[in-house]
Amino acid sequence: MTTRLVVLVSGTGSLLQALLDAALAAEYGARVVAVGADRDDIQGLDRARAAGVDSFVCRVGDYPDRDAWDKALTAAVASYEPDLVISAGFLKLVGQEFLTQFEGKFINTHPALSPAFPGMHSVRDALDYGVKVTGATVFFVDKGVDTGAVIDQRAVSVQSGDTEASLHERIKETERAMLVDVVHRLARRGWTIDGRKVTIG
Ligand code: GRF
Repeated sequence: MTTRLVVLVSGTGSLLQALLDAALAAEYGARVVAVGADRDDIQGLDRARAAGVDSFVCRVGDYPDRDAWDKALTAAVASYEPDLVISAGFLKLVGQEFLTQFEGKFINTHPALSPAFPGMHSVRDALDYGVKVTGATVFFVDKGVDTGAVIDQRAVSVQSGDTEASLHERIKETERAMLVDVVHRLARRGWTIDGRKVTIG
């Protein structure tokens, strides 16, 4: 059985592209069945179209409040019957309905080694702190900000002269490889979550 992925994006979508490319191989075990976005005119949506994958846009501003948006997003994603939902550079926090519906199958990737540097500016925060090693974390999303149970982590060294952009670009290379590998392993071997402990296979 092929694991059905719905991927949520807000920008460039290079993580999405890595999944689309990996899924071209039948033995990968997973395929992207839809791409969802919270805004129009982003490269992530272009990538979905180019790959012939369904896409949809769910804008917060089109709904009376955040709960209504969350309900609509939940319904749009659920209509594709995903086995895994992947937040890949999706710049919105989802609400309770989404978290409940996709509990234990909603994963996110974060450009830092959790629990260090949660939030939107993790690369800058790590650089400002002066750490010599940072990295990327893939985790099951819970109601906190970047606090969910960790699935995998990879380290990236900070180099002297790094800027936020150069460091983020190197982290993203690692992030792409890790996400592709994690999704492959989850798809092939299944997973269990016991409190904060995630076991694959
Ligand atoms: C990644 O570093 C992700 O962790 C962060 O935003 C970046 C998304 O990159 N939240 P892209 O849009 O997939 O290129």
